[in-house]
Amino acid sequence: MTKLMPVLSAHWDEKDSFTMAGYKRHGGYDAAAKALKMEPDAVIQLVKDSGLRGRGGAGFPTGMKWGFIPQGDNKDHYLVVNADESEPGTCKDMPLLLANPHVLLEGMIIASYAIRAKYAFVYVRGEVTHVVRRVQQAIEDAYKAGYLGKNIFGSGVDLELVMHVGAGAYICGEETALLDSLEGFRGQPRLRPPFPAIAGLYARPTVVNNVESIASVPSIIANGAEWFSSMGTEKSKGMTLYSLSGHVQNPGQFEAPLGITLREILELAGGIRPGHQLKFWTPGGSSTPIFTADHLDTPLDYEGVAAAGSMLGTKALQIFDETTCVVRAVLRWSEFYEHESCGKCTPCREGTYWLVQIIQDLENGKGTEADLEKLLDLCDNIMGRSFCALGDGATSPITSSIKYFRDEYIAHVTNQGCPFDPHASTLFAGTKVGA
Ligand SMILES: Cc1cc2nc3c(=O)[nH]c(=O)nc-3n(C[C@H](O)[C@H](O)[C@H](O)COP(=O)(O)O)c2cc1C
Ligand code: SF4
Repeated sequence: MTKLMPVLSAHWDEKDSFTMAGYKRHGGYDAAAKALKMEPDAVIQLVKDSGLRGRGGAGFPTGMKWGFIPQGDNKDHYLVVNADESEPGTCKDMPLLLANPHVLLEGMIIASYAIRAKYAFVYVRGEVTHVVRRVQQAIEDAYKAGYLGKNIFGSGVDLELVMHVGAGAYICGEETALLDSLEGFRGQPRLRPPFPAIAGLYARPTVVNNVESIASVPSIIANGAEWFSSMGTEKSKGMTLYSLSGHVQNPGQFEAPLGITLREILELAGGIRPGHQLKFWTPGGSSTPIFTADHLDTPLDYEGVAAAGSMLGTKALQIFDETTCVVRAVLRWSEFYEHESCGKCTPCREGTYWLVQIIQDLENGKGTEADLEKLLDLCDNIMGRSFCALGDGATSPITSSIKYFRDEYIAHVTNQGCPFDPHASTLFAGTKVGA
């Protein structure tokens, strides 16, 4: 059985893990000092060799992304860390920043040096005031220690690091909307190309990376590419944070090599809550197609999850037992996407509105069997025709739940409403649902 591999989360149980002293006690900032003695290109090569892939959802190779930044162009380059974390179920970056903000700052120093950026930004989701305060304190402490500012580590390298607090929009996690928001505009996705590596923040070459991606870099510099790539599977290397939530005995962060299965994580987490069974789950947040108990042994790496018909996404494992009405859960997610649609493109702006109306009708007993085909047709018109991935993501819970739980949708029609008793959390007697 695959075991836990705490690296990022290794010292979270120490009461001063978030302080400079707590971080330095375990070798904190040694990796940055080491990287600054290497050639920037050698740092990029090391990260490439490690096989690290972006932890923000798409799994793009991090070293390759850094390598896209043009060199010798006499332009400012920027590093932007995406700490917006707003996807339902996704909850790894905020605990990481709360428990150990310095590992992100150290990763940012290394990444900025590698891409030759003198300015770095961290865009934090605005609602999480406690995290904002903690990151701000860590930045101040790093400046005082001489790890940020002019001539950092006495190396002759300068780095200014700024935290920006978002105003609370899911779309501002999409990297180009984030850049617009950071520049002071309304956060809406940009047309690509040009990609951020060519024209990003203030139209300058920019790397946008997720918090966990950048926080994984110091351990790679400290322990080497081989150490990192010895964990995980053939194309999905290293350890990562799996966030377990919902109807489980012990929800929380489980840091393990990529490729672990949900069955193994559940064993480590004490299983589903007593007396209940797994009904459905998301492998990577609400925008990844749902899975069922049939997928308990799917390797949770990029390839394994894709082969089984979903996406690893942010590894947000939301667990639902048999007391959950799948239609109601999908309605909640759909309401989120409708609310968060930025309105820039018609398929998503109009489509997410109509999806909610139809699912609401089904849940409230006003739906018909024909509504299922209408839902699938709408999803077909949103998927691949929206300007950004928010629209695509909005269709995932709907198409996948109809695939696995069509009978339960039909039961909402024949029962003229939700067959689940919201108070007793059980099915009404005599109603048969489920695949
Ligand atoms: C609607 C939407 C929301 C997103 N939210 C986030 C987010 O909160 N954090 C994040 O790192 N990436 C988010 N992403 C993905 C980013 O666009 C981008 O791919 C990511 O920050 C790249 O980092 P990585 O290469 O380190 O994974 C979002 C994408 C979309 C379409
Ligand atoms: S898909 Fe939705 S969120 Fe993305 S640009 Fe279109 S309207 Fe905005």
